[in-house]
Amino acid sequence: MPDFSLSPDLESLQDLARKFARTEMMPRAAECDRRGIFPEEIYRKAFDLGLMNLNVPAEYGGSGLGAFQQCLIVEELGYGCAGMTTSIIANCLALEPILLGGTEAQKREVLEPFCRSYHLASFGLTEPGGGSDAGSLATRARRDGEGYVLSGEKCFITNAPHASLFTVFATLDPELRHKGISAFYVPREAEGVVPGKDEEKMGHRASSTGTVRFEQVRVPAAHRLGAEGEGFPLAMRTLDMTRTPIGALATGIAQCALDHAARYSRERHSFGKPIGEHQAIQMKLAMMTSQVRAARLLTWQAATLIDAGKNATLESSVAKCFASDAAMRVSDEAIQIFGGYGYMKDYPVEKLLRDAKLTQIYEGSNEIQRIVIARELLRRYAP
Ligand code: CAA
Repeated sequence: MPDFSLSPDLESLQDLARKFARTEMMPRAAECDRRGIFPEEIYRKAFDLGLMNLNVPAEYGGSGLGAFQQCLIVEELGYGCAGMTTSIIANCLALEPILLGGTEAQKREVLEPFCRSYHLASFGLTEPGGGSDAGSLATRARRDGEGYVLSGEKCFITNAPHASLFTVFATLDPELRHKGISAFYVPREAEGVVPGKDEEKMGHRASSTGTVRFEQVRVPAAHRLGAEGEGFPLAMRTLDMTRTPIGALATGIAQCALDHAARYSRERHSFGKPIGEHQAIQMKLAMMTSQVRAARLLTWQAATLIDAGKNATLESSVAKCFASDAAMRVSDEAIQIFGGYGYMKDYPVEKLLRDAKLTQIYEGSNEIQRIVIARELLRRYAP
């Protein structure tokens, strides 16, 4: 019988993230959201506390946490502010291809400086012409002497305007589709790396998202991750690891919406009693509670499989997909419980809905998650 209680060590990790979220993130969240501020001082504090580079092993200076531990932290940060959390955990996504596909020398070269002082990295897979269909990406890698030359454009890249390193997926031969794709890491100072403007987003406004162009960027062969043509499975394996924490982030948004709605249901009166005593509100709160708890358990299940070294492709997609849909449903119902106030920016719940929406889209839209889930499921039923 699985034990769902947390050990004292896990509780203190959760507590650290909770305190950081409540004391550093939440007091600034509304202002950063309203004005689209990228609060770098908060990200630096997160780095100082070991809340960044969570997946990088301690031998390279990272926090060296497993997937379950990461999920506990990310849920708490997501509760505090989803946008800030996206920027804080973007290094985990960008550095994961190096952890999975890098040689020992590459890991030491990249990860150690990253963990020694505050740096941001970005994951460059998505392109203007191909988001969900990652196998059809058009950024070209051309062999050139001892190395490669990269040309193309990536879009919707978290932290791109601030990143000092990019992991980039590019094709040596588009005719080969996914088999032509290789992965590279490229320092921002390389000639021809041109980050674009910060996008104006609906939610996650404390996070920074932008394009980055690679204009004939020379990359040494030593910066290729894995063999030529191995980039696509590396990207997929990376996302298998990082979709579960997105489920945790979404669970944090949903829990925050539920807490606001439950408190308001006790305080606000209508028809002579607190609105929480009306069954119409109780039905909503019961649904919201069930969604939050199911989302959390699904992320915990996926994370436990990852920590056990088992294949978790299906479970990661289930966790990400369910938890992000739950975050949308729960934050939508929270607004409904707040009524007209919920629609106003003076109250905290409309931000949660705007933030929840992105979790259904990034790191693979939920339509892609359902494709992955169905494929994996049918594989298990092979005759
Ligand atoms: N692990 C290892 N290998 C995998 C794999 C996995 N999870 N999934 C697929 N592969 C391998 C397959 O085995 C296959 O290998 P072979 O050719 O050797 O048989 C190869 O990859 C191609 O697989 P598919 O045939 O399944 O590929 P496909 O073209 O049909 O696409 C897809 C699959 C699931 C739709 C994929 O394109 C996908 O995940 N798309 C979404 C991309 C995405 O999530 N983007 C988000 C980017 S991050 C972000 O959001 C930005 C941010 O900053 C937050």
